[in-house]
Amino acid sequence: MSAQFGNIDHTPFDLSGKVVVVVGGGQMPGPQIGNGRASAIMAARHGAEVVVVDKNEAAARETVDMIAAEGGTSYPVIADVSDKEDCRRIFDVTMQRSGRVDGMVYSVAINPPFDAETDTMTTADFDHGINVNMLGGYYCNLFAAQCMERNDGDTTGSIVNISSIASVKNEIGLNIRIMPYALGKCGLNYITELTAAQFAASGVRANTLMLGPIDSNLANHDCQTLFEQTPAEAEQAHRDVVKLKMGRASAWETAYAVLYLLADESRFMTGQQIRLDGGAALLR
Ligand SMILES: NC(=O)c1ccc[n+]([C@@H]2O[C@H](COP(=O)([O-])OP(=O)(O)OC[C@H]3O[C@@H](n4cnc5c(N)ncnc54)[C@H](O)[C@@H]3O)[C@@H](O)[C@H]2O)c1
Repeated sequence: MSAQFGNIDHTPFDLSGKVVVVVGGGQMPGPQIGNGRASAIMAARHGAEVVVVDKNEAAARETVDMIAAEGGTSYPVIADVSDKEDCRRIFDVTMQRSGRVDGMVYSVAINPPFDAETDTMTTADFDHGINVNMLGGYYCNLFAAQCMERNDGDTTGSIVNISSIASVKNEIGLNIRIMPYALGKCGLNYITELTAAQFAASGVRANTLMLGPIDSNLANHDCQTLFEQTPAEAEQAHRDVVKLKMGRASAWETAYAVLYLLADESRFMTGQQIRLDGGAALLR
């Protein structure tokens, strides 16, 4: 299989014929492009039929429209990943409509509101954060892998879980204000390894992409509300995380890494936690 990759006429990262489900494929409204949306557009540019899943219907439809404007193929599925049955429905709808699942990107996360005066958050908000950031990831991994294992070939499907260096880089992650986020990402790292081990015999791969500071509307918004920062302070705080002075990336850098992981060219990679963080986790 991989011998063909060295051929001069091989088209790299060709996803044609593949169905890729991008969970969190809308984005928080605003001027920057989000990681899920950029990944969905990238997968469509490389030939995949893309299922754009989001709780925010307008945002999902906007991604579908952007893909259509470039001549790509996609459709929206509106779902709330904090609900197990909604997670199952994502893949039921995809199988009914497209007949297969080859790729799944889990790119959803939230930071529940935090009360700085009492240094707490409500139990309901905490639980919702874990449900979205972690349990939804587990169910989407499970249901995606169960679809993928029906495919033929030595690599039957690829799962990419979008995690964060907040799960490993202590001075970011060890902060009570983002506990359901960081804890959820730690869980997502584990879920990746679990999926990789559980479904390896069926040819399903799973990898974690651990992002550093990416210039997204969600990251900018959460920094401002959770840490009471001005936009300029939030931008500086994101840049300060990267001690190697690599600055901040856009979601397009994420999308190229996602493309590699979805494509058959990465067929020997599974169960990995890959840091896309400008070296932030290298020098603290
Ligand atoms: N931006 C960063 O600096 C950064 C860093 C590390 C990791 N990440 C990760 O990248 C991913 C995407 O984040 P982003 O910053 O690009 O934001 P984004 O704009 O893509 O926003 C997240 C999306 O998730 C959707 N969503 C929220 N709750 C949902 C639910 N219950 N069900 C379904 N959809 C739901 C939102 O509607 C939104 O479209 C997240 O997993 C985030 O943790 C981002």
